[in-house]
This record gives sequence, C-alpha cells and structure tokens, in this order.
Amino acid sequence: MKSIITNEQLIETAKKYQNYSSAKYSNFKVGAALLDTNNNLYGGCNIESSSYSLTICAERVALTKALSEGINSFTKIAIVGPNDDFCPPCGACRQLLYDYAPNLEIILTNNKDIKSIKLKELLPLAFEETKLKNI
Ligand code: THU
Repeated sequence: MKSIITNEQLIETAKKYQNYSSAKYSNFKVGAALLDTNNNLYGGCNIESSSYSLTICAERVALTKALSEGINSFTKIAIVGPNDDFCPPCGACRQLLYDYAPNLEIILTNNKDIKSIKLKELLPLAFEETKLKNI
C-alpha cells in the first residue's frame, strides 16, 4: 500500500519538473504534478515554440502524459511558477482539466503559503460534454 502523497510532496514534484521547463521565449518556467486516484504522479513542464501559440502549458503536458498512458482518474494537481506568487492555471488548461477531472483539487504555492482550490471554483458554469448532447 502506497503512502498518501502530501500537498508538500506534490509541490516538490512540480518543482522537479519545473527544472525541465523549456521556456526559451518567456523565461517563465512552470512545473506541474498531477496525482491519479492510485496515488501515481505525472509531471509536466511548459514547452515553448518559436511559433509562440504552439506553446504547451505544464498542466496540459502532465494531463496528456497521463491520458496517453491510459490513466484517466485524477484527484489533485500542483502547479508552481517561477516567482513567489501563486501560478493558477490559464483558461485553456482549466477547460481541458475540467473535461477530464471536473472534481480536481488545485494546489498552488507562493513559496510561503499553500492554497487549495477546487477546479469547479475556478471555472464556474463550465462548458462540458453534457452540453454536446442537447442538439
Ligand atoms: N504557462 C503554463 O505553463 N501554465 C499556466 O497555467 C500559465 C502559463 C506557461 C505558458 C508559457 O510558456 C509561459 O507560462 C508564459 O505564459
């Protein structure tokens, strides 16, 4: 039986992946650590492109990594940014995370405090797959 992963450990993992960030253009390095319901971790970092809009955020890298391994049930994600400020997920990441894990808990830190927020609080009145059925 694996021991429970604490929010502090989740943040440490996100920081580890932040080191792999390829933020050549913005220099804004982000790391994420996604926890599944079996207590396994999937890390991600932002990957930037010279064609800026092709950039992928750390959260979406972590999510697609897990999904592509057949993992699709998640409990928490920690996100860390490059400064002593909380780094909440961008709008695109909120939507994609919501599509796969609407009950996700988001763990943020400013390197002093840890904040825990429900994804549902960050994306009220979300567009979701049930809406696709009403046509
Ligand atoms: N970024 C993320 O990785 N996650 C977020 O939620 C916010 C933004 C990245 C994208 C880009 O590489 C850099 O931060 C600056 O926007």
